Amino acid sequence: MPIIEVNELSKIFGPEPRRAIARLDEGWSKEKLAAELGLTVGVNRATFAIESGEIFVIMGLSGSGKSTLVRLLNRLIEPTGGELRFGGEDVLAMNAKQLRRFRRARIGMVFQKFALFPHRTVLQNVEYGLEIQGVERVERRSRALEALELVGLKGWEHHLPAALSGGMQQRVGLARGLANDPDVLLMDEAFSALDPLIRKDMQDELLALQQKMKKTIVFITHDLDEALRIGDRIALMKDGSIVQVGTPEEILMQPANRYVERFVEDVDLSRVLTAAHAMLRPETVTSDRGPRVALELMRERGISSLYVVDKQKKLLGVVTAEQAAAAIRSGAALEAVMHRNPPQVEPDAVLSELFEPLSHSSVPIAVVDPDKRLLGILVRGAVLAALAGSEPRDGAGAMPETDSAPEGDIGTDAPEQPAHLAQESARPSAGEADAIHEEERRS
Ligand SMILES: Nc1ncnc2c1ncn2[C@@H]1O[C@H](COP(=O)(O)OP(=O)(O)O)[C@@H](O)[C@H]1O
Ligand SMILES: [Mg+2]
Repeated sequence: MPIIEVNELSKIFGPEPRRAIARLDEGWSKEKLAAELGLTVGVNRATFAIESGEIFVIMGLSGSGKSTLVRLLNRLIEPTGGELRFGGEDVLAMNAKQLRRFRRARIGMVFQKFALFPHRTVLQNVEYGLEIQGVERVERRSRALEALELVGLKGWEHHLPAALSGGMQQRVGLARGLANDPDVLLMDEAFSALDPLIRKDMQDELLALQQKMKKTIVFITHDLDEALRIGDRIALMKDGSIVQVGTPEEILMQPANRYVERFVEDVDLSRVLTAAHAMLRPETVTSDRGPRVALELMRERGISSLYVVDKQKKLLGVVTAEQAAAAIRSGAALEAVMHRNPPQVEPDAVLSELFEPLSHSSVPIAVVDPDKRLLGILVRGAVLAALAGSEPRDGAGAMPETDSAPEGDIGTDAPEQPAHLAQESARPSAGEADAIHEEERRS
């Protein structure tokens, strides 16, 4: 359910700004409005909804309207036109008193310049926001201590800000934003002043905090990597307009226009795309089937290994054509000959971390959910295709056509080997086929 709904929200700076709205509807550009009417477009008819509990990133170059937009959300800036709802409530209809209460209780803000008071302790800095809201002493102290503990600053309460590193000062700013436990936290370039390594730590911590607290976070950044790392969804802005809203994957794989395409063209896809994106539908056999069924399935599909699952689709192991053939000869059950601990990853593993395991594995890598249910398999061909920018498949991916990515590529260790060759070599050998026929004669 959306917590924030924005409809045609605009902010124009300059005299008699409402004049500009009709011109924007006519398609005037930001430059034309500035040149002919002396008005500056801050935000141009933005329409989007932010879901409760998501990290919604607003990204764009400097001057694109990010700060203006985020300040419209808590009415630190009054809009020139449009609608704004918070939890269904009309924010633009609030009077001054209602607005104060709204800002205190429901929407917090963290700034880039942490704006700490140098002569107040860390604790007093975090308490400050609660103090001006009139929260009484004992309660504000306990809430501030709680917030400091959340951001990992327990033990630093009585230090002055100057004793803290930049990263720690930003945590104090974050604690101040969290102290009154708002539903939504607005963060305007909160990490942009930090050096890269500390910045990455803070991103990780924000993600961890988010997991724990389930806050809705509106995070502003001009940094694409940061946006892709932490955003559940990203809104990309240009000249005050939102040019695309989507998941990181949608922004990368289905850019809405040339601008978005150029914005994202240098991204290292392997650090963004996940196992879920590249996985194929697995061919499976249930453990109660015999090795002959397994081998026949492999022969039919032209693959050389098969995942063994139970009736709930839980992964039990993987069996190769050689193993199945050997089981037929010796009369063993599938479970007796299969590999019991095949390589496996979770669906959100990023592809860059999978090259190594993929290059060492003689069977496709299994993608499993936390309950070990088999969701899909990863083969080199499909991973490379995903990185080459081909369209993502639906969900677990359709069964590949016989001439596309190989379903199983056991025994091939050259990733550039064409799919049809990998399949060719993956077929059961004549010897194995003979074993099937021999088994059939006997039964
Ligand atoms: N108070 C203001 N008065 C006039 N123009 C402003 C004001 N604040 C922002 N702008 C203009 O609005 C546009 C968007 O600015 P801003 O929201 O700060 O962008 P960003 O945060 O993406 O860098 C810019 O052209 C900027 O110059
Ligand atoms: Mg800004």
